[in-house]
Amino acid sequence: MSSTIAPATSKLALLGGTPVGKISYPKFPVFTDRAIERTAEMLRAGKTFGVGRKHVPEIGEAEEVISQYHGGRHVLATSSGHAALQSALAGLEICCGDEVITTPYTWGASISCILHQNAIPVFVDVERDTGLIDPELIEAAITPRTRAILAVHLFGQPAKLKRLRAIADKHKLMLIEDGSQAHGAEIDGQKVGTVGDAAGFSCMGGKLLATTESGYMVTPHESVYWKGAMIGQHMGRATDGGMPAELKPYCDSLVYTYRVAPFNAVLLTEQFKKIDAELASRRRHVDLLRAHLVDGKFLKLPNYGAGVKPSFHLLSFTLDSAAAGITRDTFSAALKAEGFNTIGYVPSPISDWPRLHWQDYAGPRVSWLSTLEAAGVDYRHLPLPNTRWRVDNALETGFDMVEPNEPMVERIAEIILKVEANIDELRDLERRDGPSAPAVRG
Ligand SMILES: Cc1ncc(COP(=O)(O)O)c(C=O)c1O
Repeated sequence: MSSTIAPATSKLALLGGTPVGKISYPKFPVFTDRAIERTAEMLRAGKTFGVGRKHVPEIGEAEEVISQYHGGRHVLATSSGHAALQSALAGLEICCGDEVITTPYTWGASISCILHQNAIPVFVDVERDTGLIDPELIEAAITPRTRAILAVHLFGQPAKLKRLRAIADKHKLMLIEDGSQAHGAEIDGQKVGTVGDAAGFSCMGGKLLATTESGYMVTPHESVYWKGAMIGQHMGRATDGGMPAELKPYCDSLVYTYRVAPFNAVLLTEQFKKIDAELASRRRHVDLLRAHLVDGKFLKLPNYGAGVKPSFHLLSFTLDSAAAGITRDTFSAALKAEGFNTIGYVPSPISDWPRLHWQDYAGPRVSWLSTLEAAGVDYRHLPLPNTRWRVDNALETGFDMVEPNEPMVERIAEIILKVEANIDELRDLERRDGPSAPAVRG
């Protein structure tokens, strides 16, 4: 099928022409009247703190709703996604020099949860099309100290969970999922968060499942729930009942403060009621965009196999800059001038970040440097060719299309097709003035 949108050959806005028009989204997140009433009631009643399900039924309610969504798994509501992830590692007793194989192409908190456990991230490269961890590179990175694989479902795309589970099982490793950007994404009928030994999700205000600030851990293992609770929630949780007797002597207030605010527990419950409808809307809009871009030449969305249902927190494109003959940054500048903002979400492989380089570190002291030094880890100059390719060629944009908004999708397609139709002018511009300023997250 050909797109109904004819590519505009009129002059690019970057070169002084008229912009197509600004891309704007409906307000997001949207809280229902019921959510607003319930949270107001919590404040009126002064129910602003509390640890466990017994003292705050709203926490129990949220954990039950989230558990049902994830096939009946144990759920621990937390103060943030980072808290959920670190609770997952602690619940699995991963710490103290253990190696965790993971991706260098993600948000830093996917990695800092490992560092804060005094464990050691081991970076393997990602797949070019999606930026997700490449399962085929994992086995070569396994050592006797490897304890876990931590996969991130970045931009709402589910990582290859079946393959990851098989590798983890073969080598007796734990599988941890970071679903912070992918609530409700599915692969082969399985929701993210339901395949690993534990998963952490962020529910900060900009996420698919938005509260103000919170998160949750999901696990099939009851002991992981309790051990995760012990590091972040203190003995208040123990009064809920059910804590294994052997853990009780170690349950105290030597904790990170990772408990969820009751206010956010209510928002978790209410937001989960509409997530599936919102995901369906995001997917419908992406299908429409794909149909309009079917004749596009240079800017591509990944092709997912059958059975993959991303949740599209962000849209991630890659530019074939060799074929286009211009850099991603000039392409992005042309999109922006027309009204469509895009950035490279990951500005560099995380392994390049100075705060991991104990060898020549000159910044404020951080706790994990001594762990990395003791292990002799050297992250400087890891090759990671696909990660580096994506750092130069990927373009991301927010995509909170939870209300019908076909005209805005058509406008995105119109802008992309207009820029592609004018690629010769952009080549000339770049030859004359050099590439535009980097289109990366600041
Ligand atoms: C992939 C990923 N992991 C972890 C986190 C951490 O979540 P939070 O900010 O709620 O701690 C985020 C949040 O942006 C994220 O995008």
